[in-house]
Amino acid sequence: METNPYVTDFYNHYDEDQRLCSRHGSVEFLTTMNYIQKYLTPGSRVLEIGAATGRYSHTLARQGYQVDAVELVEHNIEIFRKNTVQGENITIVQGNALDLSGFPDSWYDLTLLLGPLYHLYCDEDKEKALREAIRVTKEGGIIFAAYVISDGCLLDEGFHRGNIDVAEYIKNGLVDGETFAARSEPKDLFELVRKEDIDRLMAPFPTVRLHYVATDGCALLMRESLDQMDDEKFQLYLKYHFTTCEREDFCGVTSHALDIFRKKATGK
Ligand SMILES: C[S@@+](CC[C@H](N)C(=O)[O-])C[C@H]1O[C@@H](n2cnc3c(N)ncnc32)[C@H](O)[C@@H]1O
Repeated sequence: METNPYVTDFYNHYDEDQRLCSRHGSVEFLTTMNYIQKYLTPGSRVLEIGAATGRYSHTLARQGYQVDAVELVEHNIEIFRKNTVQGENITIVQGNALDLSGFPDSWYDLTLLLGPLYHLYCDEDKEKALREAIRVTKEGGIIFAAYVISDGCLLDEGFHRGNIDVAEYIKNGLVDGETFAARSEPKDLFELVRKEDIDRLMAPFPTVRLHYVATDGCALLMRESLDQMDDEKFQLYLKYHFTTCEREDFCGVTSHALDIFRKKATGK
């Protein structure tokens, strides 16, 4: 299967292992873990697709869950292996979210698809990755799908930080000048979506949405403020964020969103 060389090149040179370790980066991790813990029960089998260096996989394996992981980029797999400690019940294979044919149907209690959808640029591929994640999950099992949200990114990386030149993006057709909806190609690396895109994508699947979460909310937009908070203030911020992160009026302005859904029983 053809892989996107831009993705491989990016992750060969990016310190994905540290991404969630800063205080502002930890908001995404802590929020996702908060929801994962709601759905795990003793003996749960977990699959992480696009596991990178294994922040989630290793954390869950150290809590005693059986974790299988799939990752596209060898460089990340090497670090994943180095991060494995004795006693973890964990496997990792090189593979692509678009084709999980090495994995059986209806096997996992919880499936994490946190990352591959950031790098799939057409509905057909996104549907393939979602279909595979749903196929390998047990009926009644839970799937977490993460997305990069365009408005959070345009505000933070664009208007605030200037890493994205919004006017240039409009000129090049990567952002619509009227609606500010984004579109990307493989060379742009990240695929930016809005909730309406996710709703459209999910409509045909036999799933029930449990939560739609602004995973990091404004944490990246206000990273300097978070990084300067003392522990007490940061804990209060986290409490505020956990309380508000599912509010509809918050969900558009976030850098990442988490769609958490249950695979319906077919009744066969
Ligand atoms: C932003 S990282 C996220 C890692 C981790 N799941 C997390 O949430 O912290 C995205 C990961 O997905 C991997 N990835 C991208 N496209 C993929 C694909 N089609 N199949 C499997 N992994 C993929 C990348 O190599 C990278 O390691």
